[in-house]
Amino acid sequence: MVKKATAIANANIALVKYWGKRDKNLILPYNGSISLTCDGLFTTTTVEFSDKYAEDLVIINDKELKKDEKDILGHLERIRKMAGIKEKVRVVSKSNFPVAAGLASSASGLAALTLAAAKAAGLNLSQRELSILARQGSGSACRSIYGGFVEWLKGEKEDGSDGYAKQIVDKNSWPEFRMIVTILSEAKKKIGSRAGMAQTVETCPYYESWLETINQDLEIIRKGILKRDFTIAGVQAEYNCLKMHALMIATKPAIIYWIPATMEIIQSVIRWREEGLECYFTIDAGPNVKVLCLEKDEKEINRRLLGLEGVIKTIIAKPGDDAKIIDKHLF
Ligand code: DP6
Repeated sequence: MVKKATAIANANIALVKYWGKRDKNLILPYNGSISLTCDGLFTTTTVEFSDKYAEDLVIINDKELKKDEKDILGHLERIRKMAGIKEKVRVVSKSNFPVAAGLASSASGLAALTLAAAKAAGLNLSQRELSILARQGSGSACRSIYGGFVEWLKGEKEDGSDGYAKQIVDKNSWPEFRMIVTILSEAKKKIGSRAGMAQTVETCPYYESWLETINQDLEIIRKGILKRDFTIAGVQAEYNCLKMHALMIATKPAIIYWIPATMEIIQSVIRWREEGLECYFTIDAGPNVKVLCLEKDEKEINRRLLGLEGVIKTIIAKPGDDAKIIDKHLF
């Protein structure tokens, strides 16, 4: 039997952010989060388990993964164990956007890898089981299993069985919603989110306050999404993003992902909004800013963003699909 499959998964951008783990091995978060799965920012991954391979080989965006990069190899081993197979693996993965610049490449990457590897290994998993499995590769990846607006439930159980993502509404529920991703710097970030969030939990004096106020953020954004109220969703997403960056800045040593162009966009978005052009920003563990707007304003906001100093390019994303298996393999 051929043990080969290819999957495609979209990236997701959080409107309420995940920052901090209560269990580092199982990747269980301290707080719930909500995201938009974005079309146009995706990873395609082909996985094959076979006796013809003498060792595991993983190629991501044309570069061979080094043996010391344990996360992805560990995730493949987890899937091999679940399926009770021993064959070595070959993986080829490609994203259509810059990797490791705070653009959620780990989310689409680990979601596509999980789906393709589970299928290739002969596991027949539900979306919930795939979400739990993807989570163990990278937390935010559990949300990329689903399209549309998605909530990752933090769960209470120690084994992580109630820590999975579920869809709030699918992509057709709010088709006018847009996320304009600005690419400011393609340089690999200095500190990854994994190490960064661990440092915040350990040293940031405001972390308790973050946890105390997160349920309110989740409730308001959920309501905004269900009512398709752009102002409610946008205001709260921007606020939650700033709260997360306040935590990062108050971490020891400080984690500052912003570069001058980041601030230029923040100030511009606030000014455009005051002028009556409704848009909001959100920023993850990197300098790039994502601007939230509605379809009717997408062209004007995109034009203005491209006119700002330091903006290399933009990608306009709409609500995207669930992760899925496709027929066309990468090798
Ligand atoms: C700022 O999911 O990349 O983008 O679980 O350690 O792999 P690991 O971290 P990751 O962190 C994402 C952090 C964030 C916020 C978010 O997407 O919710």
